Amino acid sequence: MKKYLVIGNPIDHSLSPRLHNYWFKENNIDAVYEKKQIKESDIEGIISEMRNGKIDGINVTVPFKKSVLPFLDEVQIPKKTQSVNTIFIEKDNFTGSNKLIGRNTDILGFKFSLEHIKYSVEGKKIFVLGAGGVTPSIIYALEEMKPSNIMLSNRTKEKAKDLKKLFPQLEIVEWGDTKNFDMIINTTSLGLKENDKISIDYDQIGSEKLFYDVIYNPKKTNFLLEAEKRGHQIENGKMMFAYQAQAAFSVFTMAPDVLEGLKPEVNKKVIELLEND
Ligand code: ATR
Repeated sequence: MKKYLVIGNPIDHSLSPRLHNYWFKENNIDAVYEKKQIKESDIEGIISEMRNGKIDGINVTVPFKKSVLPFLDEVQIPKKTQSVNTIFIEKDNFTGSNKLIGRNTDILGFKFSLEHIKYSVEGKKIFVLGAGGVTPSIIYALEEMKPSNIMLSNRTKEKAKDLKKLFPQLEIVEWGDTKNFDMIINTTSLGLKENDKISIDYDQIGSEKLFYDVIYNPKKTNFLLEAEKRGHQIENGKMMFAYQAQAAFSVFTMAPDVLEGLKPEVNKKVIELLEND
C-alpha cells in the first residue's frame, strides 16, 4: 500500500487527507493519505523516510513550503515563488535511487479557482494584501493572467519591498490605505481567528468588486462578511484548495516518464466533501 502525507503546523484543520483518500478510493488505488504535525527540525527526517521509500508523496503546508527546499534533489517551480507544496519521487535512471522532486501546485490551484467562477483577471486592477508564504505564488499566477496592475500592501513594509524585488511591477501601498481595485485578495492569516479584522475602509470601495480570501476555514472571514454586506462578489479559498489538491493528485499518480497522472474531477461531490465539517 502506498503512503502519502501532508505536513504542516498546525495541521488539524487540513482537509487534504479527506480529499486524497476519497480520490484514491474512487480510482481503486491502494493508498492511504495521512496528516502529520511537525516541527522545522523534523523535516530532514521525514524527507529521508521518503528517500527510503517509506512515504510515496508529501504535501507541504504552512509554514514549511519554503523550508523544505534545501532537502530536495530538484525543484520544478518558478524560482520566484520559493514555495513547494508537493513532493514526489522519481527513480534516477542511472543510479536507481529515489530522487525527490518538489512542485508548487498552489499556482494552478489559484488560477483554476478563478476559472471555476469564470472570473477574468485580464485588464483588471488587483489589490493583494499580505506578503506571506503563499503570496508569491498568487502574484505569479496573477501576472500570467495579465491584469492591468497589481498593488500590494503588507503590515511589515520590508516584506512587501522584498516581493517587489522579485516582481518589479508591483505597486507598494501603505498598510491600511484603501485603493481603487476590481479584485482584492487577502493572503494574510488575518481572519483565521474570529475577531481578526483587516483595516481597510469598506465604505470607500465602489460596487461589484471581487473579494477573494485564501482562507477557507472559517468559510466567511470578517473580510468576506463585510464585503458580502455591501453586495460584492465573494470567494473563499476552498476552490483554490481543491484545485491545488487535484494538481497534486495528478503528480502523485504519474507513471514513470509520463508528464501527467490522473486528474480527478472537482465536482459537486468533492465540494460537498469539503463543506462537511
Ligand atoms: P506564512 O508565510 O506561513 O503564510 P507569514 O509569513 O507569517 O505566514 O505571513 C502571514 C501574513 O499575514 C503576513 O503578510 C503577515 O504580515 P507581516 O508580514 O506584517 O507579519 C500577515 N499578518 C499576520 N498577522 C497580521 C496582523 N495581525 N495584522 C496584519 N497582518 C498580519
